[in-house]
Amino acid sequence: VLDIRKLYAETDAFTYDPGFTSTASCESKITFIDGDAGVLLHRGYPIGQLAEKSSFLEVCYLLLHGELPQAAEYEKFETTITRHTMLHEQFDRFFSGFRRDAHPMAVMTGAVGALSAFYHDSLDIHDLRQREISAHRLIAKMPTIAARAFKYSVGQPFVHPLNKLSYTENFLRMCFAVPAEEYVVNPVVAKAMDRIFILHADHEQNASTSTVRLAGSSGANPFACIAAGIACLWGPSHGGANEEALNMLKEIGTPERVKEFVAGVKDRKYRLMGFGHRVYKNYDPRATVMKQSADEVLAAVGDSNDPLFQVAKELEQVALNDDFFISRKLYPNVDFYSGITLSAMGFPTTMFTVLFALARTVGWIAQWKEMIEDPSQKIGRPRQLYTGATQRDYVPISSRG
Ligand code: ACO
Repeated sequence: VLDIRKLYAETDAFTYDPGFTSTASCESKITFIDGDAGVLLHRGYPIGQLAEKSSFLEVCYLLLHGELPQAAEYEKFETTITRHTMLHEQFDRFFSGFRRDAHPMAVMTGAVGALSAFYHDSLDIHDLRQREISAHRLIAKMPTIAARAFKYSVGQPFVHPLNKLSYTENFLRMCFAVPAEEYVVNPVVAKAMDRIFILHADHEQNASTSTVRLAGSSGANPFACIAAGIACLWGPSHGGANEEALNMLKEIGTPERVKEFVAGVKDRKYRLMGFGHRVYKNYDPRATVMKQSADEVLAAVGDSNDPLFQVAKELEQVALNDDFFISRKLYPNVDFYSGITLSAMGFPTTMFTVLFALARTVGWIAQWKEMIEDPSQKIGRPRQLYTGATQRDYVPISSRG
């Protein structure tokens, strides 16, 4: 009879690391995080500098190609992305198949997966040119798909891309323009949106990126892999946290109720959403920029005294001075202030994770390309520690006691 415990005892071939807390799954040149110091670098450039001085499309180029573009390279890249923003006419019918009250992330998972049914000339992962076209298509079409998911959920007609606008202005127009009314993009909102996209562009081997790599390691096409990443991102412990964080702030309601809420967190009744991170054991550098963006957007289109912003600031203060959070190194993450900002821009909470997916697409595709182009790449195949029954003999149903 097979003795499973003896078998494990005699095997020295693998490590048991649930949640991958200390196992690197790959080598990468894209993103570096020092969680203790609160440092995040893309291709060596600090996230704070990129958020302040760059644009989302330039960061896309950087993540994909490893260097900041020269002027001519940037112009060519922007033109290429612009050329791919449209969706196949038949694709629109895909949206009407969903119920109006479907969560936009459910729509995104299905719609992005369906891209592989439309763009057959960019499915061959062994062809460099096809890999590049699929990367460009995904970056370019995500805003169009995300805006359609939004428009469908609010029952408004789709707005087609207007490619003379910037990437982010175009997206905002597709979301908020309505027919027969002139829509002018607010520059403060556009700048903040672009910055939010930069902050979410990549974050090394998080759950959704690892999902994309694992799916891609089997040779699946890039559209299918990104759809897998979107599905993973939806979870409340990952991209879904921004939605949960705003719901939490609404539930607290006023700064006076913060202490009572924090007591509940310490009693483990619930978690403080938008706080804590597997890697950052210091202030998430993205949260600093996000807090500033919240300030700017509220001043431009919202209410600087927005009660939810006051609740968030009070919550942060209370938590940062409380031993429960200090001892566990729990600090605000990127999601803590993003909900307030996106809400002031006019997005419903159900769209928050969609915006995250839009921005993270470039990170996913850059990581996927890096993996496919690595000659030592193998199919991902984690092992397990089996804890079930040992080997036993089949008993016919009539003889089971
Ligand atoms: N609120 C209260 N306590 C928390 C929180 C939180 N947000 N996060 C962690 N803790 C506590 C845990 O209870 C645990 O305490 P214990 O050791 O006394 O049992 C300790 O801190 C460690 O927590 P783990 O769950 O082991 O930490 P892990 O690294 O696995 O979790 C995670 C990281 C999932 C992000 C967690 O901090 C969390 O759930 N945060 C809230 C959700 C959130 O904001 N997610 C967004 C992450 S960023 C992103 O995806 C963009």
